[in-house]
Amino acid sequence: MSVFDLTSKARKVFNRIPAMLGYRPDWYSSSFNQDYEKIYRITDDAAPREARQVLQLLGYRVPRGARTQQQLAILDVACGWGRHTMQFALNGHRVTGVDLNAEFLEEARHEAAENGISVSPDDAKVTPPESGVKFVKRDMRTLDGSGDFDVAVCLFTSFGYFSDPEENMEVLRSVHDCLKPRGQFLLDVDNPELYVTKGTGQSSQALTDSNGEGILVTKQSEFDFDRGRRIVRFVFDDPSLNIYLECQLYTLEALIGMLEDTGFVVSKTQYGNYDGQNYGSKSPRLIVKARKRA
Ligand SMILES: C[S@@+](CC[C@H](N)C(=O)[O-])C[C@H]1O[C@@H](n2cnc3c(N)ncnc32)[C@H](O)[C@@H]1O
Repeated sequence: MSVFDLTSKARKVFNRIPAMLGYRPDWYSSSFNQDYEKIYRITDDAAPREARQVLQLLGYRVPRGARTQQQLAILDVACGWGRHTMQFALNGHRVTGVDLNAEFLEEARHEAAENGISVSPDDAKVTPPESGVKFVKRDMRTLDGSGDFDVAVCLFTSFGYFSDPEENMEVLRSVHDCLKPRGQFLLDVDNPELYVTKGTGQSSQALTDSNGEGILVTKQSEFDFDRGRRIVRFVFDDPSLNIYLECQLYTLEALIGMLEDTGFVVSKTQYGNYDGQNYGSKSPRLIVKARKRA
């Protein structure tokens, strides 16, 4: 038996530990469902502004309402129902949105078409469309890109989902492979310091169900200090609807280390919100910019 076999066996055992302890290692493949969408559709309103600001943070100036001069090939990793993907396209860019949830992607295609955006068929390749948008069902760890994108974004805490740290590194490597030399990556996650001090607790939100009836959902947020993971539960009256979300919260230093290990050059300036304020312990977000080497 080689050392490699031993290592891979040890890793397999290690990977099973979270499940043995009652954690849900593949929670992400079922939790982002139609009920999650109902809760978070409210974020659509911010998408036009955020898409513009993301490009500004990356150094591309886009006047409000104007189509951009420079057409970029943009990859939106874990795009959900494409709220940013579509906005980038409306600003004149060629955009590919990738997500694991086929229903979200189908909705994204319909909405894009309704907004007059040209929608390329999903050919299962993570490449930029000729124009408009393309939506591809793909796991973010295995994008199999071939370096065609000017920009990649991963927005709204869509990183750190995997219990095995190596799998979160696979996401970064996978994104890196999709970028052209000097291509830029913007990663937007929760600020761990703010989450730990202020983000935990319980709150309620009223929703409308598919029959038009009002329902109440309670959001319970906690931090698992042993594993460094943010845990969020949405609790409904009907427990079969309950939603469980978790993700690794990384410090800025940890993220910089991971990005550098992947081969990125990390920008010296990191942001704490989409307005471009510098990152600090009280910032709502942690937004890191990195560039693939030339
Ligand atoms: C927090 S949502 C963010 C969606 C979008 N970026 C936004 O801002 O609206 C996370 C998204 O990640 C997707 N996702 C979860 N695991 C994934 C995986 N392994 N590969 C690709 N997408 C995944 C989910 O389906 C969901 O749409």
